[in-house]
Amino acid sequence: MIYLEEKKPHGLKVRQGIQKFMTNQRKRMFDLEFDKDKFELVNIEVELDELHPSFNGYKIINLSDIHLGQWMSPKHLEGLVDYVNQQNPDMITLTGDYVSYILDIYEKPLKDSFKKLKAKDKKLAVLGNHDHWLGAEKIRDIFKKSDIIDLSNTVYTLDKSKNDEKRILHIAGIDCVMVGKNDFDKVMKELPKEGPCILLSHEPDFAKISASTGRFGLQISGHSHGGQFIIPGMNTTLFRGSHSKKYPVGKYKVKNMVQYTSKGLGTNIFWFRINCKPEITVFTLKSTEDKKKKIKIDFD
Ligand SMILES: [Fe+2]
Repeated sequence: MIYLEEKKPHGLKVRQGIQKFMTNQRKRMFDLEFDKDKFELVNIEVELDELHPSFNGYKIINLSDIHLGQWMSPKHLEGLVDYVNQQNPDMITLTGDYVSYILDIYEKPLKDSFKKLKAKDKKLAVLGNHDHWLGAEKIRDIFKKSDIIDLSNTVYTLDKSKNDEKRILHIAGIDCVMVGKNDFDKVMKELPKEGPCILLSHEPDFAKISASTGRFGLQISGHSHGGQFIIPGMNTTLFRGSHSKKYPVGKYKVKNMVQYTSKGLGTNIFWFRINCKPEITVFTLKSTEDKKKKIKIDFD
């Protein structure tokens, strides 16, 4: 395995220079318009304990690692948002790294696209390492202006209870682990003892800690870009950066929790992917309550 360490932005100026150079070349080298065939819509079904059956078929779309301003152009993002809206998601989650090494000129297109994203219920997000390196407060401000709930070290409860029947779904978020902004104790304190819960964590390897609590049915992550290069037939990658060594790409079972690591949308350092299409992940939730009832009846 090739392990890539990227604990802090060594040579940020050099990387900014490379990004500027590549941006100037981009028009000649890349197609800037959105083409849905260049993206993969990945469908993942997840069973959650304690989920009320009224949530069966609930659709969450996750977008990760947009890295606007590298391969992902503002035009790509505009088209991507239209495409996501066409899927009619109940909820949209965003798992960090919205930009790479340059923020200022991408603030407006990022905000405009995020504003246009439409979910029937809510849009929720956490930050990634690049967001912190370039300006967490600016990114949080974009969230605020785009009606996106900032889930950094906090919990949001979607409550669709009817009469006396509890119909809830908790969505928790952990702030970036790589830059040490995570406060999991706070999340656990805020999280009610009951009710299904999904955790957003930019870094996938946090699953080892979150799964050990037994409190989360699903963790959604990005950060790794799936390695950007996937070995054909093996569905894994040789390239594993920090905090994505254990769960670099796809679906894993960690104790009783499903860990899902998205391949992400943009690129970093190398502006291309091999056998690793940019990914829009569609999670369809399923309740285990009906199955439990059936088992009980069969047993009785
Ligand atoms: Fe990242």
